[in-house]
Amino acid sequence: MIDTHCHILFGVDDGAQTLYDSIEMLKVAQADGMTNIISTSHCVPGIKFENDKETLLPIYREIVDEMKRQDMKIEFHLGSELMLTPKAIEWLRDGRVATLNDTKWVLCEIPWNKNLQFEIDEDQAICTVLELGYKVIIAHPERYPQVHENYGKLEYWKSLGCFFQINSTSLLNPSREANHRLAWRMMEDGYCDVVATDAHRHQGTRTNRLGGIYAIIQEKFGEMEAKRLMVDNPLRLIQDGVLERR
Ligand SMILES: [Fe+2]
Repeated sequence: MIDTHCHILFGVDDGAQTLYDSIEMLKVAQADGMTNIISTSHCVPGIKFENDKETLLPIYREIVDEMKRQDMKIEFHLGSELMLTPKAIEWLRDGRVATLNDTKWVLCEIPWNKNLQFEIDEDQAICTVLELGYKVIIAHPERYPQVHENYGKLEYWKSLGCFFQINSTSLLNPSREANHRLAWRMMEDGYCDVVATDAHRHQGTRTNRLGGIYAIIQEKFGEMEAKRLMVDNPLRLIQDGVLERR
């Protein structure tokens, strides 16, 4: 299995805070049977977490060095979770964004919190990212009020050429009932191309484990589908390929 959304790089966002935290998260993933993992630190250009390639690379290298010292076998890749702010478009134009494993794939977070200090036409922003030659995978649509209010958004984004990543926690955790229901509805309707953890910690429920959800999806939709979502499509992201839809 491969995790393509998690916050492992320490001290750059609300995920891992120390090198120890980062290594512990990687150990959790490795023990869960993961072969590869992409760290996707928050990047909100012009607002906060101004994590471009240049900021993230030295921390990434420090973690890789420590992994070598500890003889860890899991393959670790760099990426980021890019909030589509007005400045994010400039950063993409300038090649500053840490795309997934330095490919054309960008994990895009759609502005969803009404308290954000900017306004942007999200559909226009997505079109611009695509026009710039990037490939878009939208992070956890099941969490966005826009999608709760208008389910048709998904079909529209798909028609533009976007793909969708659902959080394993949304599928597993019924306490956030609306997100949980929407996540499973998306699964049923084929609006899911990748399942990832969005892990921020090495302990608790929001950690780097996919084994549990893999077994549930395998049971419900079959081995091929579980593998498409947590092995094959994630590998296509790493290798700059084209994702397979259901
Ligand atoms: Fe995230």
